[in-house]
Amino acid sequence: METIISPSILSADFANLERDIKLVAQAGAKWVHIDVMDGHFVPNITIGAPVVSSLRKVTDLILDVHLMISDPKKYVKDFIDAGSDIITFHYEAQSELTLDIINEIKSAGKLAGLSIKPKTPANVIEKFIPYLDMVLIMTVEPGFGGQKFMHDCVSKISDIKEYARLCGKDDLYIQVDGGINDVTAKVCTRMGANSLVAGSYIFGSSDITQAVCSLIE
Ligand code: DX5
Ligand code: ZN
Repeated sequence: METIISPSILSADFANLERDIKLVAQAGAKWVHIDVMDGHFVPNITIGAPVVSSLRKVTDLILDVHLMISDPKKYVKDFIDAGSDIITFHYEAQSELTLDIINEIKSAGKLAGLSIKPKTPANVIEKFIPYLDMVLIMTVEPGFGGQKFMHDCVSKISDIKEYARLCGKDDLYIQVDGGINDVTAKVCTRMGANSLVAGSYIFGSSDITQAVCSLIE
């Protein structure tokens, strides 16, 4: 599977999101990663469904929405209606509702992703893999861009890849998010990641095209 780059607009210029999304599209990105934070699940507040809805009108890129919120069950419909293509939520948020939320996303015709924070082991989500389109392994504590990559999360990539193989889901997207640059990207893709989120590395670069290309081996 070709490696998919999903630039995170958390590090873009919030006053110029349309311009910055067009820049990453010109650089060859097919997805754009949108970090939704509620100030409760994570200690930061970013953007909500109205912004996703506005971005839907100005780009055809796949909207890869990462919900870092405490009550995904309550808000998932808003993000479906806003035109998200992929909706990823956190296992830690409402673990008992995980399958319900996956089903709601999938029955709306969207792709469903499930994410785990650095301290959550991969095995707790193994049973959901048959129902999922994507697993997102956080390689920093969620909440902020520009943090240092946590190498001890890397083994979870191969755990998830093995669980996917065991249930015949070779097309599962295995995404990593946090501290991704040209060096850590290779560490992750060699372990089996096929979707890389990068915020500060891409938007902090003076050559966005070169930055996007450098993440693909
Ligand atoms: C962090 C977010 C990330 C963030 C990554 O909680 O989920 O998507 O934008 O930023 P970098 O690539 O700068 O680590
Ligand atoms: Zn993210």
